[in-house]
Amino acid sequence: MHITELLKKKRNGKELNESEIKYFVNNTVNGNIQESQIGAMLMAIFIRGLTTAETVMMTKAMLHSGDVLSWNSEWSNMLVDKHSTGGVGDKISIPLAPSLAACGLKVPMISGRGLDITGGTLDKLESIPGFNVNLTKPDLDNCLEDAGCFIISTTENLCPADQIFYTKRNETSTVDYINLIVGSIISKKAAENVKHLILDIKVGQGAFMKDIESARKLAKQMVDVSHLMGIKTKAYLTRMDHPLGRTVGNALEIDECVKLMQGQYIPHIHELVTIFGGSLLEMSGKADTLESGKKMIKEVLKNNKALECFYKMLIDQGVQEEICNNLCYGDKTKALKLAKYQTEILASKTGWIEQIDVLIIGTVCYQLAGVVSNNNLVDHSTGAVLPKTIGEHIEADEPWLIIYHSTPTLNFGKNTLENAIKISDNKIDINCDNLIIEWIE
Ligand code: URA
Repeated sequence: MHITELLKKKRNGKELNESEIKYFVNNTVNGNIQESQIGAMLMAIFIRGLTTAETVMMTKAMLHSGDVLSWNSEWSNMLVDKHSTGGVGDKISIPLAPSLAACGLKVPMISGRGLDITGGTLDKLESIPGFNVNLTKPDLDNCLEDAGCFIISTTENLCPADQIFYTKRNETSTVDYINLIVGSIISKKAAENVKHLILDIKVGQGAFMKDIESARKLAKQMVDVSHLMGIKTKAYLTRMDHPLGRTVGNALEIDECVKLMQGQYIPHIHELVTIFGGSLLEMSGKADTLESGKKMIKEVLKNNKALECFYKMLIDQGVQEEICNNLCYGDKTKALKLAKYQTEILASKTGWIEQIDVLIIGTVCYQLAGVVSNNNLVDHSTGAVLPKTIGEHIEADEPWLIIYHSTPTLNFGKNTLENAIKISDNKIDINCDNLIIEWIE
């Protein structure tokens, strides 16, 4: 077998068999395939597609390219996780993991970096000085024992195939292909060895799936493949038509997550954390119903218990005590670096915010942060704050958007940003529960 034969086969629209898929995945990980050939295969897959059988084989090959984590047998029904397909301002995993831990579950989360304009949980966490996303197995055991959760990256030993494909997909514009998303996410969740999983399938302009039909197709595939891997899974389709919460950008989003865990109500974030958390508590039997699970999550957000688990997770993942204290209980500006320059974008009239162009906000923040596929170059301090968001009332000349930038001038038109909002003369009935479109089990 040779990679050029496989490339030709897929390029010509033929199906690959199990040994060919394993050959491609294993030789990618072993460094025996040229970078250009990996990129070419991803592009061939993107254009020609994978069948369901190929997707299952690819997911399994990606999983077995590294270790499967094993845990204390007493935790077996308590191991849960959630993963999103990615959105703008999507920071849900960061407060969700410690909230679940505070309710007695164990959350061994392998997460990702930003893909295209969608932000990455790991990039956000790395805006906290010292946060280490690469831990040894004894460290991971300690995190689950002590904090009840961790959030780490793929490594050379943990889903190494996804680590390579992830960067290559970003570089070759092959991110938004359903079956590659399935392989990427489910191989990570299977490597975590969790029992229960919530998938957040984002739909809209700020997501890879732009319409409900394609999101349904992705959700169905993910749930099917995940069940085959022995994980009880529920996929929610949620709207991604406007930025989630009031911030976009790595350090700014961490600040917002901590505020949520300090008991502040933050639109969109509060709803999704409680629904996903409540569902996992119900699925794992910790709560009798979804409603009682949601109540448990609301409680740990209010009574500081989620924040305590977050604090422990930070300590266990390498953050110094002084930074943890400043971030969780003191002056956040001493813990997080925010960009030096701020530019306010003002509302052109008084009214209710009907629409915020998530694509424009996402693109601006993506450009300000820099090259996401090379983490060393990411500027964590940039982004945007939305003092006013969808459904809220705004006065003419009031700022609805504050851009945080590291260079004195903005390199894109202020005009574009000014036009990224639609204000209605009439009150808009936007209910946060509208975020959930439907779910598939
Ligand atoms: N998150 C992942 O881990 N992989 C994807 O492909 C998309 C979102």
